[in-house]
Amino acid sequence: MVWLWPVRSSNTMNRKVYTLLFLVTICIVSLFVRSCVMHRETVYFRYDIPPELPQAYQPSHNATTEAGVALGKTLFFSTELSRNNTVSCSSCHDQEKAFAESRTTSEGIDGQKVNRNSMPLFNLAWVDRFFWDGRAASLEEAVNFPITAHNEMDSDTNRLVQRLNRSARFRKQFYAAFGIEEVRYVHVRMALAQYLRSITSYASPLDRMYPIVSELMAQGLSQPEIMQREFGFSDKTIQTLQLCETCHSNITYGNNKMKNNGLDISNAGDIGFAVVSGKKTDEGLFKAPSFRNVAFSGPYMHDGRFATLEEVLEHYNSGIQPNPNLSEELRDEAGDPVRLNLGEREKKEILFFLTRLMSDTSFITNKKYAL
Ligand code: HEC
Ligand code: HEC
Repeated sequence: MVWLWPVRSSNTMNRKVYTLLFLVTICIVSLFVRSCVMHRETVYFRYDIPPELPQAYQPSHNATTEAGVALGKTLFFSTELSRNNTVSCSSCHDQEKAFAESRTTSEGIDGQKVNRNSMPLFNLAWVDRFFWDGRAASLEEAVNFPITAHNEMDSDTNRLVQRLNRSARFRKQFYAAFGIEEVRYVHVRMALAQYLRSITSYASPLDRMYPIVSELMAQGLSQPEIMQREFGFSDKTIQTLQLCETCHSNITYGNNKMKNNGLDISNAGDIGFAVVSGKKTDEGLFKAPSFRNVAFSGPYMHDGRFATLEEVLEHYNSGIQPNPNLSEELRDEAGDPVRLNLGEREKKEILFFLTRLMSDTSFITNKKYAL
């Protein structure tokens, strides 16, 4: 049996060598497969916007990429962000409504009431103050509110992240977007912010007129004169629109100003911007939204109190309340609320401006924002 030793020994040797070779091969193959499967190339998102617009804001720590936008979109339409898998961002932000909602005030998880009306979402890459009261300064910060609010999605962020990490599909998408093996909450926020930044609306009839308008302005005509020339608006309509635009100045993305437009005589119901500033004089101040797509996004105001734009216009025409913090623009020389005394012609023209000239109908059906 002596001869068995060397044989056995050589056998063992062989086996060792084979095992080693086998392991090395497995390693090489798995590294190769992995690098194929997990291959990741950063493709930056390109904004398809007219050249006259300023650059979209891109935070250096969260540049917008194709993969980030795709992931953010999946998350936006996913009920997984809510505690019991029933509510998604899109439950309260409906593309057909320019990503606002038809309810007067929102309803979150388990039918719980939210005290404000949802807001439209577009051109947010040009905005630096979010929510009706302006309490968030970035989108990364803003998206945390609905996810964690007890009456909206009520998520425990640790549990949310555990759930996402258990999903192979999500892990893959997070890897593609951020090159990470393990999802953290910060990445959820970053991806949602990227998707929100990617949503743009720039094809209203007024946008399409830009080449003519800029040409006429170069010839010395003012914007109101051009509007008058193009649409035959009355002087009073033009004056009124000029008043409106002191607060709703930038049709593209609003002007991020906090104002009081005299909805109520007192601010007991909702103190608005005072939550941020802590100042008594900021009570009842709210963000003045953009006029763009306003025909789609009703009901109107922070509490959705007006169902139609006719009602909104009647508020400005005859219903402004002497709120102690009513903004100057809406006071007369005596400091009282202005009364516009608009005639039928002016009302019709202003509504035409708001509903027709401001409406980007291609936006609300644009498939690139839907799943
Ligand atoms: C239960 C309804 C509801 C859900 C769900 C919801 N939102 Fe909102 N959203 C609102 C309401 C209401 C407001 C206005 C809140 C306020 O001003 O306090 C708002 C405001 C916003 C704003 C501010 C827009 C601006 O112009 O200032 C952003 C951004 C936003 N939501 C994104 C999201 C995202 C992303 C999600 C999902 C993670 C989400 N929302 C889920 C109801 C909802
Ligand atoms: C002093 C500034 C100011 C002026 C001037 C002003 N607004 Fe407003 N507007 C606001 C503010 C602030 C809000 C939001 C108020 C709130 O919800 O509490 C608002 C809300 C609106 C809304 C609702 C938007 C939405 O998404 O719910 C419309 C429509 C509107 N204004 C139209 C007009 C028109 C038309 C004029 C001119 C006749 C006008 N505004 C003049 C400040 C102003």
